[in-house]
Amino acid sequence: MEYTLAIIGCGVMGQALLSAIYNAPKATPETENLYPSKIITCNHNEESTKQVVELVKTFKKSANGVEVESTYGENNRVIKEAKVIILATKPFLAKQVLDGVKSEIQNKLIISLAAGWTIDQLCDYTHYVSRVMTNTPAKYGFGMAVIAHSSSVKQEQKKLVSELVRHIGKCIELPEKNMDAATSLVGSGPAYALLMLESMMESGIKMGIPLKESRECAIQVLKGTASMLEITGEHPSVLKHQVCTPGGTTIAGLCTMEENGVRSGIIKGIEEGAAVAARLGKK
Ligand SMILES: NC(=O)c1ccc[n+]([C@@H]2O[C@H](COP(=O)([O-])OP(=O)(O)OC[C@H]3O[C@@H](n4cnc5c(N)ncnc54)[C@H](OP(=O)(O)O)[C@@H]3O)[C@@H](O)[C@H]2O)c1
Repeated sequence: MEYTLAIIGCGVMGQALLSAIYNAPKATPETENLYPSKIITCNHNEESTKQVVELVKTFKKSANGVEVESTYGENNRVIKEAKVIILATKPFLAKQVLDGVKSEIQNKLIISLAAGWTIDQLCDYTHYVSRVMTNTPAKYGFGMAVIAHSSSVKQEQKKLVSELVRHIGKCIELPEKNMDAATSLVGSGPAYALLMLESMMESGIKMGIPLKESRECAIQVLKGTASMLEITGEHPSVLKHQVCTPGGTTIAGLCTMEENGVRSGIIKGIEEGAAVAARLGKK
């Protein structure tokens, strides 16, 4: 199956997906037909399009023979040519963009990154809708993506979406009812993790460890712990208690954090983010 993929709005997230799909390793015989032969990116301004062109110049030849064309102000022409469309404009611009291409987009598969845009809202334009919530580490291949599909999306289309999106890092499928939570946990998640990292760094600095070394320690502790959790498959509390010597430093530190509401602060903060995401969808 030869097809063209359109990326409408090739900014931070659009470029992350473009890089991931273009630079994906050689597909297997079972998955090679899921890759586009051509990707067309379409932005609003010439200036931002030049950035995309410069990015593409840094790419080596695509292992799956993907070609890229970058343009701007041509959403209609680009969508007409495409079979699958990634919508990666800011959510507040999505209506204007979609209304402008309504007749061209019908019956095509749309992969929407727009936070707060529900499957129902997107089904006004086409019945084949995959909603994706991802995050900025996707730019470096360490992203997370949560995917929810409309009921009309066919099995082959689901495979295509997962195959294209998985190269940003990791992807899982969840029902749409979990999308507001995923918007906060996954989409905003890097900001929450950075708050933790920054706090750890600052604790190091406060106690006399220089900034560079504090940063190095905080990064490696978070990276190492996440990897350990993934490798062992254990529950965090099991690994946490392995570090707690009776009467020792770790349990003292943990108890003080509990007294200061760290855990409930994180949970309430992530819930608040999800509540705001839910309101976005109702606007
Ligand atoms: N950034 C995040 O952390 C994050 C996390 C999760 C989800 N998301 C979702 O990802 C989506 C994209 O966010 P982003 O951060 O990548 O935004 P961004 O960097 O601002 O990129 C949006 C792109 O849309 C283009 N655009 C604007 N109007 C357009 C039009 N009429 N036709 C075609 N393209 C147009 C812009 O081009 P010009 O510059 O030429 O105007 C820009 O390149 C959003 O819906 C957001 O909800 C983002």
